[in-house]
Amino acid sequence: MKLILPEQAGEEKIRDFWARCKGRMGNPGAVWPKGRTYEEWLRDTAAHRMRPPEGKVPSMLLFLTDGDETKLYGAASVRWETNARVLERSGHIGYGIAPEERRKGYAKTQLRLALGVARSLGLERALVTCLEENGASRRTIESCGGVYEDTREWGPGERLRRYWFTVAPPTLETTRLRLRERRAEDAPGLFGKRGSGEVWAIEEKASGRAVGSVGLYRDPIQSDPTARVLGCVLSETRRGRGYEKEAAARLAAYGFEALALENISIVNEAEECGCTLEGTANGPARRTVTRDEYFLRRRENVEAE
Ligand SMILES: CC(C)(COP(=O)(O)OP(=O)(O)OC[C@H]1O[C@@H](n2cnc3c(N)ncnc32)[C@H](O)[C@@H]1OP(=O)(O)O)[C@@H](O)C(=O)NCCC(=O)NCCS
Repeated sequence: MKLILPEQAGEEKIRDFWARCKGRMGNPGAVWPKGRTYEEWLRDTAAHRMRPPEGKVPSMLLFLTDGDETKLYGAASVRWETNARVLERSGHIGYGIAPEERRKGYAKTQLRLALGVARSLGLERALVTCLEENGASRRTIESCGGVYEDTREWGPGERLRRYWFTVAPPTLETTRLRLRERRAEDAPGLFGKRGSGEVWAIEEKASGRAVGSVGLYRDPIQSDPTARVLGCVLSETRRGRGYEKEAAARLAAYGFEALALENISIVNEAEECGCTLEGTANGPARRTVTRDEYFLRRRENVEAE
């Protein structure tokens, strides 16, 4: 299962999802947009992700789908900036599952994936809330490891339970490498600083040593929160073995398949150390791979095998 953006899901699947939900979704951004056309809804949803209305934080709407993207099962909203409303009411993640798909474990899957997206957008701790009487949502949060904080008044006769998640990057494996969380004993020189984003230590499986780092950083040029820059640092003794390419390919797969990214750019510096992902050349300084290019190449590789 994976999360995809509305643009990636497409109108047909979204209309089918709305028809199956019949308005019974706890996620207002994801339900049938009364009084608006599909195009207007799509435009507003994308705008809310990049340039939110005054006083609101950016919010990313994502749909839960299966590996073949046959249909949509649920929707989650991820808010990665914090204001008083997020802290007091909505929390960082809101979600719902289509009624006929409930009680099959999809809410737990969707929340775990949404927490990954929140982390990749810079959140180290995420607040998730539910109304006291919403037993299904409460079980979902508790099963995913949310740590209960307290219960507060929410509205007349309603109380809100608050839970916090600490989100760490997942460990990603390749044939020769393990991309894992940074540890205190890893040499600081292996970690370049490129701004906000997620960074993994590159551990060489054969020696068990950290030999570099690789990261997906928010793109300083594109304001779109679904754009990233891939950066890589490798210890001099491990260059020339193709490790950078191996790590970069795994991270690109993670970015496109788990984080619903639209594009990943590689700057010259990374290309010099070997992180070459083929893509559209955007001038001398950077090379960008789009989601469509990634999946096209993946299909071609599968067919060639
Ligand atoms: C809350 C909601 C997302 C749960 O979706 P789901 O896909 O049915 O949940 P899952 O199948 O992943 O189950 C998650 C947990 O909740 C439990 N659960 C699910 N439905 C339940 C229900 N009606 N009553 C009690 N527990 C329930 C499951 O048994 C599971 O617990 P476990 O891990 O201890 O086994 C879904 O009911 C929904 O969309 N509700 C309307 C929108 C909403 O309330 N959103 C949350 C706003 S805070």
